[in-house]
Amino acid sequence: MTIKEALVWAREQLQEACERPAFEAELLLAYHLKQDRLYLITHESESVENVENLQKLVKRRAANEPYEYIVGEASFYDIHLAVEEGVLIPRPETEILIDRVSEIIEKENLTRIAEIGVGSGAISVVLARKFPNLNIIATDICEVPLKVAKRNIETFGLSEQIALRKSNLIDDVPEVLELVVSNPPYIAEDFLLASNVVDYEPKEALFGGSVGDELLKEIILDVKKRGIKYLVCEMGYDQKEPLQAFVNEVGVKSIYFYKDLAGFDRGFVIQFM
Ligand SMILES: C[S@@+](CC[C@H](N)C(=O)[O-])C[C@H]1O[C@@H](n2cnc3c(N)ncnc32)[C@H](O)[C@@H]1O
Repeated sequence: MTIKEALVWAREQLQEACERPAFEAELLLAYHLKQDRLYLITHESESVENVENLQKLVKRRAANEPYEYIVGEASFYDIHLAVEEGVLIPRPETEILIDRVSEIIEKENLTRIAEIGVGSGAISVVLARKFPNLNIIATDICEVPLKVAKRNIETFGLSEQIALRKSNLIDDVPEVLELVVSNPPYIAEDFLLASNVVDYEPKEALFGGSVGDELLKEIILDVKKRGIKYLVCEMGYDQKEPLQAFVNEVGVKSIYFYKDLAGFDRGFVIQFM
């Protein structure tokens, strides 16, 4: 089978599972050949070795497995992070959360923060790379994210700046903190998700409770109780109203909600004092 024929075959296989089957066919073939996509165009008539392996990759994607799990890598912000099943694939909207946190770190010269729910390490790794004086304690309740985050932290040489800790929220983080950042699970348990998400990504990373915002509310209460000045969280597009009502009851100095690039409410910044 030539490269050209392999692309035609793979595109047909991916027709149903992918929005851009031709593009994903190219990505998978390029990954299989350990080449970039340009190589496929310039070597159309070259024959593809080890076709059975390519077929396995394409069949996994055709069964809705996310591309990032198949190749073991996700691109996020300005880096590539290792990912595997059991850890959430970092999403582009979380880059906005990082920008909101960065503004506060810069303005207030913060050096001690925590992240709740580290996952692949996406947020902590990007923040630590941006701010060499920043120390981060990053928690998770699950083993796989802690293992994958450790790998990514080591890859980028950030072990001095980011300490990982198995903890529910910040229960086991007694250190003094200036800010907490989190992209917690915030989806309602009965929300219908696409197969590539619900069948492959970890439930602990997705579902925040029967309503969805339960963990977010717990985080707000915890951070307030601990006397930490700032909390910055990602949230669901429909959670602004209930969270605004909740903080009105709890009492905070200020809250503002930010939107994602599609114009949906996507997160908030709370200042407690
Ligand atoms: C939506 S994922 C976010 C992962 C990563 N921070 C990102 O933005 O890509 C949420 C993470 O929170 C973790 N988690 C869920 N409940 C938690 C809890 N009670 N305490 C700490 N971490 C929790 C999950 O295991 C998961 O890794």
